[in-house]
Amino acid sequence: MKSVYFTTPIYYVNAEPHMGHLYTTALGDMLKRYYQMTGSSVYYQTGTDEHGEKIVESSKKLNISPKEFCDKISDKFRSTWDEININYDDFIRTTDVRHKLFVQSILKKVYEKGDIYFDEYTGKYCVGCERYLTDTELIDGKCPDHQTVPKEIKEANYFFKMSKYQDSLIKHIEDNPEWIRPVRFKNEVLSFLKQPLSDLCISRPKSRLEWGIELPFDDKFVTYVWFDALLNYVSGIKETSKGDNIFDEFWQGCNHLIAKDILKTHAIYWPTMLMSAEIPLFNQLDVHGYWMMGESKMSKSLGNVIRPSTFDKHFGIENLRYFLFKEMKFGSDSSFNYDLFIERYNSDLANGLGNLLSRNAGLVAKNFNTIPAKVALTCDEETILKIHSRIVGDYKENFETRQFSKAIEDVMTLISATDKYITLMEPWKLAKDPGKKDQLARVLRCGLEVVRVSAVLLSPVMPQKAGAILDYLGETRPLDGTVSFEELTAFDSLKEGVELPKPPQFFPRFDSVRVEKILEEMEQETKTVSTETDSPETRVIEPIKDEITIDDFLKVQFKVGEIIEAHHVEGAQKLLRLMVDLGEENPRQIFAGIKSHYMDPKILLGEKVMVAANLKPRQMKFGLSEGMILAASGDDRLAVATFKGSAKPGDKVS
Ligand code: MSP
Repeated sequence: MKSVYFTTPIYYVNAEPHMGHLYTTALGDMLKRYYQMTGSSVYYQTGTDEHGEKIVESSKKLNISPKEFCDKISDKFRSTWDEININYDDFIRTTDVRHKLFVQSILKKVYEKGDIYFDEYTGKYCVGCERYLTDTELIDGKCPDHQTVPKEIKEANYFFKMSKYQDSLIKHIEDNPEWIRPVRFKNEVLSFLKQPLSDLCISRPKSRLEWGIELPFDDKFVTYVWFDALLNYVSGIKETSKGDNIFDEFWQGCNHLIAKDILKTHAIYWPTMLMSAEIPLFNQLDVHGYWMMGESKMSKSLGNVIRPSTFDKHFGIENLRYFLFKEMKFGSDSSFNYDLFIERYNSDLANGLGNLLSRNAGLVAKNFNTIPAKVALTCDEETILKIHSRIVGDYKENFETRQFSKAIEDVMTLISATDKYITLMEPWKLAKDPGKKDQLARVLRCGLEVVRVSAVLLSPVMPQKAGAILDYLGETRPLDGTVSFEELTAFDSLKEGVELPKPPQFFPRFDSVRVEKILEEMEQETKTVSTETDSPETRVIEPIKDEITIDDFLKVQFKVGEIIEAHHVEGAQKLLRLMVDLGEENPRQIFAGIKSHYMDPKILLGEKVMVAANLKPRQMKFGLSEGMILAASGDDRLAVATFKGSAKPGDKVS
């Protein structure tokens, strides 16, 4: 039996769980269920990342100790996953003793083999930020957030010889082209590795930061948070919270699930750390894109707030999972908004699967009471059988290559073909003719069989809903691999004689009045106070106005700019502060009203964007804005215009 081990990133405890975290965590849950159903032994670990300077800051604000703070938020993550039925095997915290001891043992090993050295580092330290700032972050020599001149500090620290493993890493990636998926992330890593790697600073002096894992070879230092955090993937299976060591069984099947924001740490820091620690490399890195929050027509203020538990209460978390896995093409970014979610739910689940079930089950209940016995299939069912055999055949490959949206769309294709078949066969008319009982039984069984197979195929996506449907149809075989996937999905294996009471409403339609009411309630729950006016300076896109001449147009100088920093702006609801490299001596600061569409500004880093470069700088409430970036927008969507290929900062756009 194949053993597979899935991990999510361990989440920082300085934010409460949101939809981005939910996606990766639900993804691990879905994969666990899929691999179990198809006969693998699966272990799934998630958890929280609790050290680092930010945590100390956040705990100070609440006047509690860092540990108390971590306990509180870590519990919130765990209880959220419990509330929404995430089937994880272990929840690791970097403050667990088992983890700390493991990190120290690895540090000792790596130090003793000579891969860690001590060196002096000079940098500009901002006490307000409690970190070193790079020259490009400073504005007029000052920290832009605290308006203070940072202190020049010489700090001695320990460094990990990451550069030593650069060639071996490149070779591993080239020899294993599927190791980082999708392929464009592999290419991104390889292209980054064309530059010489620098060594990694892996310590922080206790004089500045005490909250961390003490270095085993120097008690005046704690471990840098990433060197600590990445090791959770091994510490958690070397000693599970039950006390078992399952490393030998599961490590070789380790599959890390992450979003693209932490690609570098997982594809470069982590494997070089493993090489140095002489631990075999993980098996797979699956990188997904970012969820962005589109403004909803139905709800403006809820645009970028989704708490998994609140969502579950109002709309059902499994309905959201269905949407997320169907909508996101693995590796690409996607946008969530309520209108689209409701539209998809109503068309696929309420009118699709739900309707197919209630139509057929209702007629069975009325005409047979129980599921009738098998009747030989005819050429009427040919199309359905063909689609069934194609989609069941492709299902495993789609899951294994992470093409979940294709696997789900296939199920919907089968459902809509069956819907057409039912409409054509008119079972309600057959029911009126006592001589056509057999025909009626065949048609209704076929409709219900498609519901049964669909529920099996959708069970990793919506386990509870699928389970309830299967129960209702008398399909009680477990989906945990004890019955083979082929048997579970074989056509016409619906049991006869199962009593079908009037079907419950598995997927009641959401009508717009009901949705608006729910959204209003949710808005009340998450009400935020607007601190910013809708001033024209905050707009990215000007509406098309009067015609202009080519000369007018040529007055605007468009250039390629590379985003090298992206920050939230305290007190601003819509703005992000971007530092954009236009190939000039200093990068420019640009404020852009795109925050609601880029929940985590980090994803903009490295993007080459189109900048109107010769706009007169504008003094805004939050600072000087020295240009404008261009974006496409429509209804509730917004996407910053970016360049692919060889465009360089400063290139003219004409
Ligand atoms: N603590 C580090 C990870 C250490 S792992 C050894 C960290 N934590 S995080 O809380 O910032 O989580 C980042 C991860 O959360 C992403 O890689 C992704 O899994 C998930 N997401 C957070 N926001 C997201 C979106 N908007 N969209 C999709 N996933 C996102 O980084």
